[in-house]
Amino acid sequence: MPRSIIVGSGKAIPPICVTNDMLARVMDTTDAWIQERSGVKTRYYVEKGTSSADLGALAAAEALANGSVDKDEVDLLISATMTPDHFFPGNGGLLQKRLGMKPLTTFDIRQQCAGFLYAMQLADVHVRSGLAKTVLIVGHEVHTGFMPYSDNSWACMYGQSEKVTPEEFEWNSRFRHLIPLFGDGAAAVVVRATDDEGRGVVDQLLRTDGTDYDKLYVPGTGFSHRPYTDPEQFKRGDHVPVMEGRHVFKLATTRMIEASQQVLTRNGVKPEDVKLVLMHQANMRINEYCAKQLGLREDQVPHNIERYGNTTAATIPLLWDEAARAGRIEKGDQILMVAFGAGMNWGATLLRA
Ligand code: ACO
Repeated sequence: MPRSIIVGSGKAIPPICVTNDMLARVMDTTDAWIQERSGVKTRYYVEKGTSSADLGALAAAEALANGSVDKDEVDLLISATMTPDHFFPGNGGLLQKRLGMKPLTTFDIRQQCAGFLYAMQLADVHVRSGLAKTVLIVGHEVHTGFMPYSDNSWACMYGQSEKVTPEEFEWNSRFRHLIPLFGDGAAAVVVRATDDEGRGVVDQLLRTDGTDYDKLYVPGTGFSHRPYTDPEQFKRGDHVPVMEGRHVFKLATTRMIEASQQVLTRNGVKPEDVKLVLMHQANMRINEYCAKQLGLREDQVPHNIERYGNTTAATIPLLWDEAARAGRIEKGDQILMVAFGAGMNWGATLLRA
């Protein structure tokens, strides 16, 4: 049975670098608070008008080039995003069109921060079953669409306006526990079939439990409303995700540790023998805690949350791309990927590079 390996990767980071001090111009926060509680120092925002499909197509093109794969060789494309360009259709077809690909099978999946791992399993079962030989996975997000700022708040953040009004400051501060964490970004990988038994996806564990879905969700703009969106929802801020941070923090640490241990144990792999553990980048403190409980060394756990913030479905392929280009992933290395996100969805993937 063929096995699936990652043969190329690419990323697209948008041009506007936003520091914590820039956020502090428009809301009640400080660089010290954000760094201490989350580890985020900067994040990157798109220019108004750039969408997640735009960023995703850039990352995908780079991944194809990096893997020396022609776009017409791809027979499955998986888009993972919680910030699609439109309510429907999903971004799969938009990526196919932007990349100039022939018609092919696409999936649009919505597992938020665990989206990349769900996509990896889809890719792997297609490869193992012979349904696909070359799969393009794109994790791509433009979170700035959630950000409920007035034009003046955006201008003030970017230093183009003196100050925000007290009303704007109070409104923006309502979301201070959430907005500083997120950044825009995209990353993609190309997965290919190999007959090399020493390489490929070894095991995956994916879980969803909707019990606590309302601890991290977008209350407005959905089809439980009629009409599904209206100006009142925007006035209430219901288009911005609700997040009970402490509760999600506890769930994330519990589930990420549990999933990692299960996958490692049932494959007889010791934590010290894993070359890299690519953890979803939601909060540096979550990952430090998980790493400690799992007995991992610092050099095993790369991070980039300090630069990019949480880029949801893009964080793990972003880590992969940076580690691979830095020569930190060699053929046959054991790599563990682990993520937790809204839904609640979580999982772990063990592979040999
Ligand atoms: N600046 C200053 N103060 C702030 C800020 C801010 N940006 N945000 C919150 N505070 C205040 C709060 O109001 C609170 O004040 P109070 O004590 O007077 O009430 C205090 O800081 C502590 O707030 P907590 O929410 O308890 O802070 P915590 O240490 O838990 O950090 C955080 C909050 C960063 C959100 C953390 O809980 C977290 O990362 N949670 C998990 C996030 C996550 O994993 N999400 C899943 C992935 S995202 C996805 O799937 C889409």
